[in-house]
Amino acid sequence: MCGIVAAAAKREVSEILLEGLRRLEYRGYDSAGIALVDNDKNLQLHKALGRVAELESAQRQRPLLGCLGIAHTRWATHGVPSAANAHPHTAGNRFAVVHNGIIENHAVLRSDLEGRGIVFLSQTDTEVIVHLIDQLRPTCSDLLATVQQVVKKLEGAYAIAVIDSDEPETLVVARDGSPLVIGLGIGEMFAGSDTLALRSVTDTFIYLEDGDIGCLKAGSYEVFDSTGATIEREVSQLEPPKKDDLLGSYDHYMLKEIHEQPQRLRDTIPPGKPPSALDFGASAAEVFSRTKAVQIIACGTSYHAGLVAKYWIEAFAKIPCSVEVASELRYREPVVVDGTLIVSISQSGETADTLAAINHLGGQGLARLAVCNVDHSAIVRASELVFLTQAGAEIGVASTKAFTTQLAALMALTDQLAGITNKNDYHGIFASAMASAPAAVTAVLALEPKIKAMANHFVAKHHALFLGRGVFYPIAMEGALKLKEISYIHAEAYPAGELKHGPLALVDSDMPVVAVAPNNALLEKLRSNLEEVRARGGELFVFADEASGFESGPGVHVLAMPHCDELAAPIAYTVALQLLSYYVAVARGTDVDKPRNLAKSVTVE
Ligand code: M6R
Repeated sequence: MCGIVAAAAKREVSEILLEGLRRLEYRGYDSAGIALVDNDKNLQLHKALGRVAELESAQRQRPLLGCLGIAHTRWATHGVPSAANAHPHTAGNRFAVVHNGIIENHAVLRSDLEGRGIVFLSQTDTEVIVHLIDQLRPTCSDLLATVQQVVKKLEGAYAIAVIDSDEPETLVVARDGSPLVIGLGIGEMFAGSDTLALRSVTDTFIYLEDGDIGCLKAGSYEVFDSTGATIEREVSQLEPPKKDDLLGSYDHYMLKEIHEQPQRLRDTIPPGKPPSALDFGASAAEVFSRTKAVQIIACGTSYHAGLVAKYWIEAFAKIPCSVEVASELRYREPVVVDGTLIVSISQSGETADTLAAINHLGGQGLARLAVCNVDHSAIVRASELVFLTQAGAEIGVASTKAFTTQLAALMALTDQLAGITNKNDYHGIFASAMASAPAAVTAVLALEPKIKAMANHFVAKHHALFLGRGVFYPIAMEGALKLKEISYIHAEAYPAGELKHGPLALVDSDMPVVAVAPNNALLEKLRSNLEEVRARGGELFVFADEASGFESGPGVHVLAMPHCDELAAPIAYTVALQLLSYYVAVARGTDVDKPRNLAKSVTVE
């Protein structure tokens, strides 16, 4: 999704901006641009369709120099991906703006500006902002005052960075509904849509709040709230970034991240130290003790982690648990009983729908717990309780290690809740499941060559069905999501028992059916469902416990999975499905780490 980098310094900033854009590439984008104010107070601009590499090549051919600049990666919402629609947008050969978010009243503003003779050069909602700045600047004392007036006219969500070639030392930034941080350097200031963009220049950040406007100069910064009053925002000092974020010898980040999972699980749940209530926050023990129900909200893969947790929480803690995609919950009036714990799950901590859903329920005085991979993120800051997964930076758009560490965290949450309602009857089984998960994943990774061979059967397919029962139904959903997002094969998941209620009509020799078949109480039920598939000529790919008795034969491909702890099995089977999707995508030649049309961090709704 769109990314912003901006800098005000006493040195050339073009390379800082380009490095920031490179660091934001993982978020997904279709075009990029950069604007600088040079020493002669001229506004200079490069925009390119495609990758940041195109911008770098433009910069090599015609270097832009300057100590004040803004840059952007765009993920199209309003208007096709094109150089004209790429940011920065400019007006009067003087002002330039980059923007994340959506200006909902852009059509009204645009038609008003066009009525006044303004000619628009793009189809974007963003361009209204820069023309409003151009129009209002003569009536305001400076750029800061102008932006303060302009944001009053905007409806929707925005994070913006603005420069004016007539004020070559001033960078103005503002946010409402889209994330934006200020990076504090020594004698230089930066802004970015996330901290990752700026980690090459600083580890010290201010997280702006909704309604904040920042005025940055090389040696100073000021923050103003929505009333225009100066405000002190907390300064956060982050740990220096880890060195293990590099691709190394792997072909793709996704493969690297799949292989990291044993260690990331150990980082999330350290061996021999199952989490206590305190690991969720100082007030967690008290909150858990009065929890009567759980409402989980999340999107995409994180939603699937929530669905798994529902099975666990209801089975072991014996309290009702609802799970809903955040984009639905945020626009309805759910009945949430007193004593409900709101649990949001998010890798990035910046997903706009999840954040909005938390805020939607937040007014009801309910406790909020974030299970999140990014400290200081918006979702973490919106929650009283936090459990940080330790997946590390996840670069591949397809979520892998974030999901399995979320499952580990949710196991720890279930353990805490069950400890209260069931007086710790289950503590031992969760502790051993959490301890066994890394080794179970290592054993699955050893099957990689076999899974790669299996993947070849999918290369020419257009559709696939994934089946699971019980807690493995959401695992099948996650397997289907992985396959569709990186291989572009249409895949759907069903609870296996639903097959004969409709989807069986789709089954023929062209429809591969992937079944998740651990050796649990539902195995025999699943076996019958798979017989129904075989009887219709469907080709089966069964991920089955080695002791389950499934055997390969004509039209049946069995991958014998190492036996593992029943509670850890959702994690282990997920890893096998991740490898299947990865190798199908590689065989089909897709852009595995940056699949088409998708963004890593979905900061607009
Ligand atoms: O950062 P989040 O966990 O909140 O993101 C939620 C989804 O956008 C994300 O899981 C998405 O579905 C992934 N591409 C799945 O691989």
